[in-house]
Amino acid sequence: MPKPAPPAPRAAVPDAWREHIDRVLISREEIAARVQALGAEISRDFAGRDTVIVAVLNGTVLFLADLIRNLTIPVRLDFVGVSSYGAGTHPGELAVTKACRLDVRGRDVLVVDDILDTGKTLDRVTTQLRQFKPRRLRTCVLLDKKARRQVKIRGDYTGFQIPDEFVVGYGLDFAERYRSLPFIAVLKPEVFQAGGAGKPSRPSRPAA
Ligand code: PRP
Repeated sequence: MPKPAPPAPRAAVPDAWREHIDRVLISREEIAARVQALGAEISRDFAGRDTVIVAVLNGTVLFLADLIRNLTIPVRLDFVGVSSYGAGTHPGELAVTKACRLDVRGRDVLVVDDILDTGKTLDRVTTQLRQFKPRRLRTCVLLDKKARRQVKIRGDYTGFQIPDEFVVGYGLDFAERYRSLPFIAVLKPEVFQAGGAGKPSRPSRPAA
């Protein structure tokens, strides 16, 4: 499997976002090129198989929409929800808020997520899916923030390795904002330090 290319030199921050965004980490053109390459690679590897894609809500939606349009294999699509705020959970414990409904037994399964951070989410989702005995289970993440890993897990297909900075855009949020940005960007620290945008959906995400 070819190594993911490091992000290229920075694109300018659009005027409308200067107040919130420190810099563009990965431009929309870089994302498009990488997603196209990932799609080709996955299509080759999964050719001829009945493939189920299981996407992790919510941040993966933009990546997923672009990725599946770059696949040349027939797929069926389902979603799982994982939250760190499930009822009755201890701090940091994950709860499944939406389970996979498709039958993955004996199928080829590709789990898609936007970012691999501590690794807890992907570990939880893949562990659960393996109980249903898929024929093959692979993972695809757009971003990999290795520095924060707490669980030994890696993406089988990875878009970009990124540094330990709080990133938003292309599906990734801070307090549910910024998901619609067409690029991946580093948020200005004062935005999340001020807490003005509301409670972060993932308190641990902003780099300390
Ligand atoms: C984000 C992201 C991944 C998860 C990765 O989800 O979408 O699913 O964090 O983090 P981990 O590797 O530390 O487990 P989040 O819980 O922020 O929800 P969202 O997708 O709705 O933004």
